[in-house]
Amino acid sequence: MKILGVTCGRNNSNTEILVKETLMGAEAAGAEVELVRLHDLTIKPCTGCNSCVIDLFEKGGSGHCTISNDDFHFFDEKFLDCDGMVVGSPIYEKSPSGQLKSLNDRMGPSHDMAFQMIARDIRQAKGITKGTGPDPRFFKQRGAVLIGVGGSEWDTLAAPLLHLFVFPMQVEVIDKIIANWVGLPKSVLFREDLITRAHRSGIQLVESLKRGITPADYVGDPGICPLCHSKLVEIREDDKNYPAICGICGVRGTLTVTDGKVKFDIKEEDKHHSHVLLSGKFEHAKELQERSLVPHPNVHEIPERFKRYEKYLTPSKPQKAVLEVK
Ligand SMILES: Cc1cc2nc3c(=O)[nH]c(=O)nc-3n(C[C@H](O)[C@H](O)[C@H](O)COP(=O)(O)O)c2cc1C
Repeated sequence: MKILGVTCGRNNSNTEILVKETLMGAEAAGAEVELVRLHDLTIKPCTGCNSCVIDLFEKGGSGHCTISNDDFHFFDEKFLDCDGMVVGSPIYEKSPSGQLKSLNDRMGPSHDMAFQMIARDIRQAKGITKGTGPDPRFFKQRGAVLIGVGGSEWDTLAAPLLHLFVFPMQVEVIDKIIANWVGLPKSVLFREDLITRAHRSGIQLVESLKRGITPADYVGDPGICPLCHSKLVEIREDDKNYPAICGICGVRGTLTVTDGKVKFDIKEEDKHHSHVLLSGKFEHAKELQERSLVPHPNVHEIPERFKRYEKYLTPSKPQKAVLEVK
């Protein structure tokens, strides 16, 4: 069993120490471990070309990303090879680092479990043999420990966005560790509580994978969303039936505060819409196929309508340095 550690904080500092401690726990439980520092990789931002989704939905392909001049495919190979992940990020502006978010965008649609299953089915049903289909390793049931490290309590988007990094691939989250007040380099070395928890979570991750992972293996803060343990709920006051929506899994419900206790209630019949469940991911695939990716009936008018914007403003760019050739 292989556990991949991913870190994007300062080299040898707090995030990396907690990721390594979790990997040590995983290794003690019998796993083979490996570490990738995102700072060592070049990950370009997603260009929005959508070719991964088209490849999956229309060709039964692998959802291969067309950007080839960076280290995304190196990372993807590490991901496909692993059985579980420990993902650690420093908290910048209340969120994980932008580098992790760039990787998340690249891995989102192309690595959506429902999209990959649809591609596998299309390939089988149509007998497509051209090119490569989804990689069989993609469909492993993986688990993850998520770690966010910050110098204060400015952390509201850290756990949600870390969860969204592993969420497309239907990875079961074992623990979400948010380490607050750990700002100076290596200062986490004085936080026995966090070190102990990281080590235990590494063991828990491997033990869960050995047993065949289930949602019951989650050991982190229960949060208030019963389906994904999120604490981030958006209020949509204009929706009388569903005034509250979970910021991670999108399930809708109602929020009540009684005697200072917050409760997020979800009707039984609405649970299957949650995007952490495969049913919610298939619903999303359907809404993309039937709505989002369907061209407007007047698509032929686009060139004419666009003329207004085509020549309006030239984007400002930095001057390229001109090399003098002697
Ligand atoms: C650009 C920047 C933004 C930061 N924003 C936050 C923040 O919003 N919340 C927080 O708790 N810490 C914030 N910090 C502090 C870091 O998260 C903290 O130093 C952490 O220990 C870094 O992890 P590392 O030691 O693994 O690099 C910020 C640091 C930097 C450099």
